[in-house]
Amino acid sequence: NLIYVLNGPNLNLLGTREPEIYGHDTLDDIAGQLEDRARELGHEIDMRQSNHEGHLVDWLHEAQAQGAKAVILNAGAFTHTSIAIHDAIKSVRTPVIEVHLSNPHTREEFRHVSFIGRAARGTIAGFGALSYLLALEAAARI
Ligand code: DQA
Repeated sequence: NLIYVLNGPNLNLLGTREPEIYGHDTLDDIAGQLEDRARELGHEIDMRQSNHEGHLVDWLHEAQAQGAKAVILNAGAFTHTSIAIHDAIKSVRTPVIEVHLSNPHTREEFRHVSFIGRAARGTIAGFGALSYLLALEAAARI
């Protein structure tokens, strides 16, 4: 009952990074909230962050190899640029849930395309840290 939670570039700075957009919770705060809820749901989470595209590709492959039930993925700006991560999602059978703290559709034009969303099982965006918890609820049920 393992769920991977993968985070892309600049999300290590959550809490101080544009808090008016992304909120005041740090990634560690979010990890703590997810661990508490995962325990209640009888699941376990493995939460990671990298600023490097290839790490996210490797971790998607690893999630399948480890038999993870699902991957919750906030690819950060790679969402809008990375065909490699799109292809990695397509390459594994593990369901991937795309999450965003903000709602990219209400923001700049360049955030309106998501290569992740085209490959993901579903997307949750716009609810701040709650987006991750909602994704966990979905991950536990699929
Ligand atoms: C984000 C939205 C992306 O457009 C942005 O590049 C991020 C964070 C979010 O969680 O709202 O880094 O993925």
